[in-house]
Amino acid sequence: MSDKLIIFDTTLRDGEQSPGASMTRDEKLRIARQLERLKVDVIEAGFAASSNGDFEAVQTIANAIKDSTVCSLSRANDRDIARAAEALKGANSARIHTFIATSPLHMEKKLRMTPEQVLEQAKLAVRFARNVVADVEFSPEDGYRSDVDFLCRVLEAVIKEGATTLNIPDTVGYAVPELYGNFIKTLRERVPNSDKAVWSVHCHNDLGMAVANSLAGVKIGGARQIECTINGLGERAGNCSLEEVVMAVKTRRDYFGLDLGIDTQHIVAASRMVSQTTGFVVQPNKAVVGANAFAHASGIHQDGVLKARDTYEIMRAEDVGWSANKIVLGKLSGRNAFKQRLQELGVSLDSEQEVNAAFARFKELADRKSEIFDEDILALVGDESVATEKEQYGLVSLSQHSETGERPRARIVFTVDGKEVCGESDGNGPVDASLKAIESHVKSGAEMVLYSVNAISGSTESQGEVTVRLQNSGRVVNGVGADPDIVVASAKAYLSALNKLHSKADRVAAQG
Ligand code: KIV
Ligand code: ZN
Repeated sequence: MSDKLIIFDTTLRDGEQSPGASMTRDEKLRIARQLERLKVDVIEAGFAASSNGDFEAVQTIANAIKDSTVCSLSRANDRDIARAAEALKGANSARIHTFIATSPLHMEKKLRMTPEQVLEQAKLAVRFARNVVADVEFSPEDGYRSDVDFLCRVLEAVIKEGATTLNIPDTVGYAVPELYGNFIKTLRERVPNSDKAVWSVHCHNDLGMAVANSLAGVKIGGARQIECTINGLGERAGNCSLEEVVMAVKTRRDYFGLDLGIDTQHIVAASRMVSQTTGFVVQPNKAVVGANAFAHASGIHQDGVLKARDTYEIMRAEDVGWSANKIVLGKLSGRNAFKQRLQELGVSLDSEQEVNAAFARFKELADRKSEIFDEDILALVGDESVATEKEQYGLVSLSQHSETGERPRARIVFTVDGKEVCGESDGNGPVDASLKAIESHVKSGAEMVLYSVNAISGSTESQGEVTVRLQNSGRVVNGVGADPDIVVASAKAYLSALNKLHSKADRVAAQG
C-alpha cells in the first residue's frame, strides 16, 4: 500500500455549499491558485452541471491550474458527466467525481429507486465517465449508512467499470472514529478487487468528529485520500478541516507513517483568503489557523516557551505560515520589506502590478495607522479580490455625525459607473445611517442577511474588517471591507457586496 496520503480539497464545491458561502468565479480562481501553491493534490472546483456559473468556474480553474488535478462533481447521469468533461477539457490532469446515494433511506425516499436500479446507474455512470477521462472517482452518497453487503456489490461493480478512486462519505456526520475506520477496513477486505482503486474518506462535522473520523479511516481503514476543506467550510457544520488533518499527519508522522505533498507554509494565507471571501470568521481558538493557536498568555507557559520552545509547542507557527519575523512594518518600510513579509506569510501575488497595488494600499494605511501587523497585510492583500470585480460602485467620501441622545446622520459620496452621486440618511447608529444613505440612492431591494465586524489585530488602533452578506432574488453575495474606521469599513463592504450582486451570474445550489 502507498505511503502517500492524497489531499483532495473540496472548499470550492462542498465548502461553497454552506449557506452564504457562495463565491464568484474570480474568487474561486484566486482560491484555486492558493490551493495550487499549497500543493493540494486534487482541487474539486465545483459541480459543472449545476449552473452556468459553476460550469464557468470549473472551466476557468481547469484552464489555469497546472500542478494539481482539477475535478468536477457530477451526478450519476450522462448529461452531468458530459458537462463535467466539457468544463474540464483544458485541464492538465482532470478527474470526474460521480455520485449516487446508496443508503436505504436515500434510495427509497430521495431517489425513489430500487437498489438494483441504483447499482445499474452507478455502473453506467462510471463506464460513461471512463470513456471521457482516465481518472474517475465514485462516491456512494450516505455511504456510511448504507447496507454493507449492498455497498460491497456496488463498489466491486464500479471498480470493474474502471473507477480509480472510491470515496466513502459520511454525508450526515453520523460516524464515530473507531466504527468509521472499521467500516472502511471491512469494505476493503470484502470487495474482491479493492486493491485496484485508491480508497478515500469524506466526513462531515455534525458531531464535531470529521477530522477524527477521517484520520481513523486512514489509520484503521487504510484509506489513502482525505477529502477536506480550508477552515472546515462545508454543508451544515462543515467538512473535515484541511489544516487540522494535514498538520495532524505531519506532526504525528511517527504514528501515521504517511507522506504528504502539502507545502504547509501556505496554510494561514489560504485560511485567511477563504475566510475573507466567504465572510466566515475563523474562531480565535481554532486549531492551527486561529489567532490564538500559537499565543501563550499564561506566565508559566510564556516562561517555558522562552526557555525551550517545545515545552508548550508541538508545531512551529512559521511552518503553517505565521510569520516568525516579529518586526512590525510601518510607514517607513519600503517595497522590499513589504514584499519579503508577503513571502514569509506565504502570499504570492500573480504579477508585479498586483504587488504595486497592494503596496500602495499598504502606504495609504501606514499613513493612518502607526503599526501594520501581519493580519493587516493579509487583509490588504485580500482586498485585491474587490479590485478584480467590475466595480460599478466605489466609495469617494463619507461623513457622519453621532452624538448621545441624537439620531445619527450620514452623508456619503460614491461613484456609480464612474459618476459621483451623493446619498444622505439618518439611522439607528452611524453604520445604519451610512448604509441607508447608500440605499437612498441605489435602491437595490437586497436583504441584509449578515453584518459582522471583526478587529483584525488586538487594540483599538486595529482595522475593523466588516462582512456584509446580501440576498436578492435567490442570489447571496458577501462583501468585505477593512478600514481603521469601522463606519468606512462598513460602507466599503456594502458597496463591494452591491458590486458582486450586480456582476454575479445566476447559480443553483449543488445537490451533493
Ligand atoms: O457528503 C457527501 O456525500 C458528498 C458527496 C457528493 C461526495 O459531498
Ligand atoms: Zn459532502
